[in-house]
Parts: sequence; C-alpha cells; structure tokens
Amino acid sequence: MTMQIAKLNPFEGLEEIVREEVPLAKYTWNKIGGPARYFIQPRSVEELRAAVRRCGEEGLGVYVLGLGANLLVSDEGVDGAVFRLDDAFWQSFRVTGTTLRVSAGMDLQKLLLKTVRQGLAGLECLAGIPATIGGAARMNAGGKFGDIGTLIQRLTLMDHEGNVFERTREELTFGYRHTDIDALFILEAELELHEEDPESLVKRMKEVWMYKRNSQPLNAKSAGCMFKNPPTASAGSLIDQAGLKGLRVGGAEVSQKHANFIVAHPGAEARDVMELIKIIRDKVHQKSGISLETEVKIWR
Ligand code: EPU
Repeated sequence: MTMQIAKLNPFEGLEEIVREEVPLAKYTWNKIGGPARYFIQPRSVEELRAAVRRCGEEGLGVYVLGLGANLLVSDEGVDGAVFRLDDAFWQSFRVTGTTLRVSAGMDLQKLLLKTVRQGLAGLECLAGIPATIGGAARMNAGGKFGDIGTLIQRLTLMDHEGNVFERTREELTFGYRHTDIDALFILEAELELHEEDPESLVKRMKEVWMYKRNSQPLNAKSAGCMFKNPPTASAGSLIDQAGLKGLRVGGAEVSQKHANFIVAHPGAEARDVMELIKIIRDKVHQKSGISLETEVKIWR
C-alpha cells in the first residue's frame, strides 16, 4: 500500500528566503495591501530559479514587486508568491563608456543621481519616479519629459521555468506605460546614455523634479497617477472638470493638487480606493464620454 504524504512546505530547502503571510502594506507606495501567502527574496539567480520552479510545480501564481508604486494590492492580499529582488545582489551596476549594465532591483532615483553626477545623460528625465529598474522597464516608466524605453538596448530575462534569455531593443516594443516583455522576471538592463556636462544635467534633473513637486501631491501617500492619459486628453484634467477633486470614500480621496492621484489617508483600505476608481470612471464617462483606463496595476 502506498501512502500519500502531503507536502507541508512547498519551499523546503529555501526557508531562508521565503516567509509566509507577509503584509504587503509595508512594501507599497500607498501603504495599503493585505498579506502575500508567500513572500520570497532570492539572493541569486539560482535561488530565484529554484523558487520559480517550485511555484510552477505547486501551481502558485507569481507576482513581482518592485518599489510598490503604481500598484494597488487588495485588502485580502494575494494567494500566491510575491517576489522581491531587493538583496544587494540585485542592485549592482557597471558603466563602460556610455553603456550602463544594471541589475533589476536597483533604485531608479539612486542610479539617476549617480549617472547625472558622472556626466551621463538620459535618466534625468525620470527624476522623481519611484521605481526599481526592473519595474521601470516593465512598465516603460516615464512622463512628459521622456521614458526609460528610449534608453534600453537589451534586457536579460527569466521565464516561468527559470530559463534565462536576452531580448535586444529591436525585439522589444516600448509603448505608453506598456511593453511587450515576454518574461516573468527582468534580471538586468543595458542602457545607452550619452555624455553631457554634469552641471547642466543636474539643473535639468532639478527642473523635472520641481515640475513634479509643484503639480503632484508628493507628500501624501498614493500609488502615483491612477489612470492613463487617454489619447486626446489628460486624465487629471478630465477628473478635475468632472468636479471630483476632494471626493472621498473612506480614507481615499481624489487629490486637491492633481486629480489623477488618489490620496490614501491613515486607515484607507484598498476597497475605498477601488470604490473611488469606479465613481471616477462613471462620472468622467457621463461628463465627457471617455472611458478612463487604470495605469496602476491591481493585485487581488
Ligand atoms: N490638470 C488639471 N487638473 C488636475 C491635474 C492636471 O487641469 O487636477 C491639467 C494640467 O493643468 C495640465 C494637464 O492637465 O494642463 C496635464 O497635467 P500634468 O502636466 O500634471 O501632466 P499629466 O499628463 O497629468 C503626466 C504623467 C505623470 C507624470 C507627468 C509629468 C500620465 C497619466 N501622467 O501627468 O505620470 O509625472 O506627466 O511628467 O501619463 C504616473 O505615471 O504615475 C505619473 C504621475
């Protein structure tokens, strides 16, 4: 007679990098979000591969967390495995001439400061955008002054089975807050910058940052711009024109400073934000006929 013994721990042997029932609010930009069933912080490509394969065997959904901006996690959290590449291993970068190779977990703002001070231009247009390099590449982070996609020459990626492969610029499409990266993980990015006088670069970086600071509620907790700009208008001005600034559901409020931000006051829950999203979409549609699409990713 054979006995079926239930496997108690799907991550046996990987206990050092896996925790269970970890509240995600601590890791999100708006400080909202329920627990991840598994929270995994690999320290090498091998550990990442082993954990990803285990997820495949167990049928667990995989979620990749960067700096937690542009993200809304439900109050119930996620019934899967959330990966965070925040070990020092994922934060290395090296510069050869004007070419930069950087690991996925590197903080975009820290990298930007370093390159600008070295007289390497390109990233300064991304001043003030909270992201890791992996997250920024995945969503083609950017704004009025440019996006990261224009700098990316090559990405090193990993698929669901743990295979590592590369995609060159020619093989990728970078659209508005969108890419067609066909992989589960971004491991490394190669960016092409160009030389410029550090002083004028610092000045430009400050201007971009000031624009953001003057027009957006940076001191409040939010997930960033909630909706994509539709082709013909700005989401912020549409929400503003619909008279929704200051509208509040529970602890979530349409920012008075920039209507495309939903500010999360202390005690705000994901359900408050979701309800507000629904009201905003309905009201803007009634007023302008335009259907707003969320830019923020929702995990539920
Ligand atoms: N506006 C209003 N009322 C508002 C907000 C904006 O009338 O409450 C008007 C402004 O006066 C302006 C226009 O709408 O005429 C556009 O506003 P803004 O210059 O602030 O730019 P945006 O299109 O709303 C975009 C990105 C931001 C990025 C900024 C600056 C989107 C959805 N938003 O904002 O990105 O920081 O440009 O580069 O693409 C984000 O992606 O999370 C984000 C914040």
